[in-house]
Amino acid sequence: MDQKTKSIILGIESSCDETAAAIVKISGGKFQILSNIVSSQIEIHKKFGGVVPEIAARNHVKNILPVIEKSLAKAKIKPAQIAKIAVTAGPGLITSLLVGVQTAKTLGRVWQKPVCPINHLKAHLYANWISNQSLKFPALCLLVSGGHTEIILLKNQTQFKKVGQTLDDAAGEAFDKVAQLLKLGYPGGPIISRLAAKGNPKAFAFARPMINSNDFNFSFSGLKTSVLYLVKKLPTPDQKTINDLSASFQQSAVDVLAAKTFKAAKFYQAKTLMLSGGVAANLLLRQTFAKKSLALGIDFSMPDINLCTDNAVMAAVAGYFTQPIALAKIKVNPNLEI
Ligand code: KG4
Ligand code: ZN
Repeated sequence: MDQKTKSIILGIESSCDETAAAIVKISGGKFQILSNIVSSQIEIHKKFGGVVPEIAARNHVKNILPVIEKSLAKAKIKPAQIAKIAVTAGPGLITSLLVGVQTAKTLGRVWQKPVCPINHLKAHLYANWISNQSLKFPALCLLVSGGHTEIILLKNQTQFKKVGQTLDDAAGEAFDKVAQLLKLGYPGGPIISRLAAKGNPKAFAFARPMINSNDFNFSFSGLKTSVLYLVKKLPTPDQKTINDLSASFQQSAVDVLAAKTFKAAKFYQAKTLMLSGGVAANLLLRQTFAKKSLALGIDFSMPDINLCTDNAVMAAVAGYFTQPIALAKIKVNPNLEI
């Protein structure tokens, strides 16, 4: 990063069920978080077992201006001090994305500020720039969220290429669905990982789909189905069995994620390995990657746990690396890819 650049960026994120705004200051070659406001809708969607798009959009409309105002107040920043606005334009739920993008465009017009549309997947990767600003390239990142499971090769700070992906469910989706099968609640990832800490990962021998396949792709639907078959045989599992099931499922998912990512790291001779996305908050995944990278002598980077799940800090950091475009050209794209 250019050591002389000084800038303040407002990030806005509303791709799914979190309404978020953040102010990030760039100076002396470092990113500094001045505020990071996330208004979560988990409590609202919990009773439906997943995000209901129409309800999410209505709540974004209600929350977005208060969240932005709070981010400015917490950072003690006036709109005049902002250099640009970075807003998530996709991928995500179209009606949720529209709220953030329309708000950013309106503020851009009123405050006379440039606006840059942000790819949410790239933003997840850029969460790594907050804690680690001397990443060596080529780098390889495992991006694991509720909607995506991808291995991304980074040639430098801005050139990203997808080299592997899930052929069916995303890893976070598998955590959420297994939690649903066990009637544990939503979102499943944090609940499963909490229960897994008390269970035996060797109690059940779940499949490790595609672990030896000759590519860098994943499959999680088979793993979820093997949990389903087992749950059918155990209609009223006790707490110990639920803990063991959670630990065995988690171990199986982490084994596959690690095996494929490290295989790709070797193939592409990566100098840095990175984690990103909501599932990167998983402690077993974090520990496994840290240990394996150390053993192989590869640098390892992961965002702070609160920057793994959706937030606007990562959108603001992505904004530093993204050119603004004319307001009329900024469009929502729910299917945007890396
Ligand atoms: O990145 P994110 O906040 O939203 C998307 O862009 O999808 O990821 C949410 C996903 C959910 O599937 C959630 O269950 C999962 O991340 N997750 C976890 C953990 N914390 C969140 N999965 C496993 N272990 C965790 N500790
Ligand atoms: Zn996300």
